[in-house]
Amino acid sequence: LPSHLSVGDGHLRIGEHDTVDLARQFGTPLYVTDEGRIRENFRRLAGALTAHYKKVRILYAAKANGNLAIFRTLASMGAGADVFSAGEVALALAAGMRPESLLFNGSSKTPADLALAVEKGIRVSVDSPDELRQLDAAAGKAGKTVDIAFRVNPAIDVPTHPKIATGLATSKFGIPAGEILDAYREALAAEHVNPVGVHCHIGSQILAVEPFAREVEVLIGVARDLLDIGVDLKFIDIGGGLGIPYRREIDRAPTPEEYAGAVMPVFLKGIRDLGIEPELWVEPGRWLVADSTVLLTRVNSVKTAHATFANVDAGFNLLVRPTMYDSYHEIVAADRADAPAVREYSVTGPICETGDILAKGRMLPDLSAGNLIAVLDAGAYGFAMSSQYNSRPRCAEVLLAGEKAALMRRAETIEDLTAPMVTPPWQE
Ligand code: LLP
Repeated sequence: LPSHLSVGDGHLRIGEHDTVDLARQFGTPLYVTDEGRIRENFRRLAGALTAHYKKVRILYAAKANGNLAIFRTLASMGAGADVFSAGEVALALAAGMRPESLLFNGSSKTPADLALAVEKGIRVSVDSPDELRQLDAAAGKAGKTVDIAFRVNPAIDVPTHPKIATGLATSKFGIPAGEILDAYREALAAEHVNPVGVHCHIGSQILAVEPFAREVEVLIGVARDLLDIGVDLKFIDIGGGLGIPYRREIDRAPTPEEYAGAVMPVFLKGIRDLGIEPELWVEPGRWLVADSTVLLTRVNSVKTAHATFANVDAGFNLLVRPTMYDSYHEIVAADRADAPAVREYSVTGPICETGDILAKGRMLPDLSAGNLIAVLDAGAYGFAMSSQYNSRPRCAEVLLAGEKAALMRRAETIEDLTAPMVTPPWQE
């Protein structure tokens, strides 16, 4: 178990808290996040990178966990953010991040998104020449100029789930390396955009470092060409994607030091050869927040049919990763953490779909109605991808800091489900 998780009196503990007490106090299902762990993760990753090069900027990939309290935690550590929507911009600014420390990413920005970036002075990672023209026009209309990067598609195959590999030649993201120079030439000629960076992201949950090193090589190659055409490169953004060991007994995940050790020498040699000193930007999401959080869920009933099912009160409405990507999340019997694992269970949610399985074939202690289950490593793309499917209000999120525990989001109510609904006049 990571250092913020432990077992005491037969119960799983997170930080200084007993998960059984937290479930009793706040109810289930419940997301519980240890703020200290996020700080520790941030320090570790930042330390590993800055040991090689001082001009590193960490942009938290906001999509991983969109709670305002998490933005605040990371803002207080000095993080900026990779933002993909007006909502993420608003949250980042509300948390005190400065517009200069944000990068507005995305392959399908609306005219309103572009206008917002212009208005707030947020740099934009432009995904196509079409978008460049729209942004230039928007900036012109506002009488401003916008700093931009282009997102390069490096055509790199990465060992991860195909749905989250983003740098493949066939992916919807970025501009092929062969066309990128023309895009920059157009940006140089445009009146209201200022090309100052280059951006890339090859995918997520990557458990090897070589693809990142190859990516940086591609970016250095692009930087060389950009220098030739007169782009003054202020940053090189290598994206996020460093994976975590969800299957602790099997996965061998690179440490931040190994990641930095693979990426930084390529970067440093590259920029020295070119005689430039741009900032290095990284956009980690999962690595900063995933292991900080457990999802607590209560057993409603147990049934033995062709398998033994522990039917719990959280399903893919609250954690879609197992259903969507066949992802593995470790399961702990939180109130029987010392008991011997005696039976194989499928841990199944309350949603009316066969695919609503949080975990399959897990050896766990004997379970019965009322027992508490913890789903580990739920802090990234957990609550963030939750839904109200089956008209289930979303659960609460609790933040822990040392001895303190407080809501960072209250549970939704049935009224929250119906509040945005409007009666068409003919039904009144
Ligand atoms: N930068 C860009 C441009 C991205 O698209 C992403 C993630 C990141 C950074 C952060 O990647 P990370 O460090 O978290 O791997 N829902 C999926 C993951 C989707 C990732 C989307 N983009 C999952 O649950 O595995």
